[in-house]
Amino acid sequence: MNYKAFVHRLLEWYPHNKRDLPWRNTQDPYIIWLSEIILQQTRVAQGLPYFENFLKNYPNVNDLAKAPTEEVMRLWQGLGYYSRARNLHQCAKDIMERYQGEFPNHYEGLLELKGVGSYTAAAIASFAYDEKVAVVDGNVFRVLSRYFGIATDIASSSGKKEFETLANKLIPKENPGEYNQAIMEFGALQCGPKNPDCENCPLKTGCFAQNNQMVEKLPVKINKLKIKERHFRYSYIICGNELIIKKRGEGDIWQDLYDFPLEESDKKFYSDPEDIHFTNELKDFVTNIVCNSENTYKHILTHQRIFANFVRFNINENFRQELKNWADKYGFQLISEENFENLAKPKLISRFLNDEK
Ligand code: ADE
Repeated sequence: MNYKAFVHRLLEWYPHNKRDLPWRNTQDPYIIWLSEIILQQTRVAQGLPYFENFLKNYPNVNDLAKAPTEEVMRLWQGLGYYSRARNLHQCAKDIMERYQGEFPNHYEGLLELKGVGSYTAAAIASFAYDEKVAVVDGNVFRVLSRYFGIATDIASSSGKKEFETLANKLIPKENPGEYNQAIMEFGALQCGPKNPDCENCPLKTGCFAQNNQMVEKLPVKINKLKIKERHFRYSYIICGNELIIKKRGEGDIWQDLYDFPLEESDKKFYSDPEDIHFTNELKDFVTNIVCNSENTYKHILTHQRIFANFVRFNINENFRQELKNWADKYGFQLISEENFENLAKPKLISRFLNDEK
C-alpha cells in the first residue's frame, strides 16, 4: 500500500481547496477547543455563527468560566446535544480552577478534560501543539475506508481501533496538524458521504472503492440502536402576558432547558385534553381551551423521534394567584413572556412559539 503517495496528494490538495475558517488561523488552544466542541455532530455552516458568537461573548477561557450557566445554555440554544454545552462550561471552570487557566499541552492531558474525547484531544494537540496524533472523525473513517478498502464496521470498537491504528501510521512527523486538517477537509469537500466527486479526485487511481465500484458501500456502519418514538402533549397555559414553564431535569434530553407541563406516551394521544390530570385542577379558572391535535411538531434526534402537540389553556386573570399556587405545587414556574424569551429552550418549543405569534 502506498502510504506516502496518499499523504503527499492530500497535502498537495489541501492548500488549494481548504475553506478559510476562523479556527484555522490560530494555535490558541482555547479557540481550537471551542470550535471543536461546537463542531461535534454539527456542520460547519451551522456551527460557524455559534462559534463567532461564543468567541465574541467569551474571548478567553476565564470569561467563559465566569459566565452564568443560563447564559451559556441560551447561546447554545439550537445546536442540540445540550450536555455538550454543560461540559463546555464545566471544562472552562476546571481549566481556571484546577489548571491555572492553561489548557494541558499534550494529548493525554487533554483527554482528562470534561467533554474531551480522543477526537477532540487529537485535534487540539495536533493543531495547537503540533503533536503527532491522528484525528479520527466521520470524515477520516470515510476517506480511509474507501481509499484502503476497509469494510470493518466503524461503529464497533474493534473497527475504531483498526482505523485509529492506520490513521496513526499515516500521519507525518512534519506538520501533523496540517495533515489532520487536510484529511478532514478532504472528507468534507471531496469524498463526501453523498455524491463524492470521484471524477476529479486526486486520489482516484489508488482508491480501492473507486476501482471496485464500492464508493457507495463504504464505510460500513451497523446501527444497532433502535429509534424510539415519543409522543409529547404540552399544556401551554397562559394568564395575561404570563405563562407556565418547567425546567427540565436530569436523565433525559434537553436537561436544564425550559419547556411546558408535559405528558408523554409511546403512542399518539387520542384522549380528550380535558383529561390531562394536572390541568383538571385548573378547570374552574379556564376561559377557553384550544387543542389543535392535527398540528404535530416533529423533532428528530439521533435515536429518538419526538412528536409534540400543544393544548392551549387561557386562564382568567382574576385567578392568577390560584394559578401561581398550582404551579408551585407541581414545581412549575409562572413567568412573563418577555422573561421567557431569554431562557434556553428546545428548538421544538421555539418553533411552536413562533407559530403562535
Ligand atoms: N469539523 C470538525 N472540526 C473541524 C475543523 N477543525 N475544520 C473543519 N471542519 C471541522
